[in-house]
Amino acid sequence: MERKPQVLVAYATGTGSTKGVAERIAATLTEQGHPAHARCVTEQPDPADYDVVILGSAVNGAAWLPDAVGYTRTHQGSLAQRPLWLFSVGLRGTQRGPITKVFARQQARAELPGVTGSLRPRGYRFFAGVMDEASTSRLSRLVWKGLGGRFGDFRDWAAIDAWARDIAESLAAARR
Ligand SMILES: Cc1cc2nc3c(=O)[nH]c(=O)nc-3n(C[C@H](O)[C@H](O)[C@H](O)COP(=O)(O)O)c2cc1C
Repeated sequence: MERKPQVLVAYATGTGSTKGVAERIAATLTEQGHPAHARCVTEQPDPADYDVVILGSAVNGAAWLPDAVGYTRTHQGSLAQRPLWLFSVGLRGTQRGPITKVFARQQARAELPGVTGSLRPRGYRFFAGVMDEASTSRLSRLVWKGLGGRFGDFRDWAAIDAWARDIAESLAAARR
């Protein structure tokens, strides 16, 4: 029987919302006939063990998390040699009030690790994440609310599923 190409969905997360996005992407791809595995970058999954890589990180201070940047640098060679898609998870586009000015200054590309210059991702998406009131310190809550920030789970599962299905479609087209 023909071996199906294996997809790695590698992610870096601070508080778990990016893990949820990665697991959803992997589940959708698997459902579409492309076996996919969500793994945290801190486990150092080797991209060379997979045929396709989707790599994502939470955004913190307009940048990918250091674990994601480090992973991208370590595995730059094998990432450059396989079909690659990238995604970020953050709050840009989810807020109203003065806080939006902070996010508006951020350029999508600036959120990606500098090393992407040598990578040729086939696609990049920014997904809305989560701002969880319960896990935010009292002081941060006050600052956030003072700037007009909203708490909540802003993840758009329909948009995430649609992106994963697009990737599945392009993998299927490449095999035809
Ligand atoms: C300290 C801090 C800084 C953040 N900076 C940004 C940012 O610069 N841009 C953005 O879009 N979201 C920013 N966020 C929002 C996070 O990216 C968002 O909460 C995301 O869902 C976190 O993902 P995680 O749960 O996988 O860590 C920040 C959140 C925190 C707590």
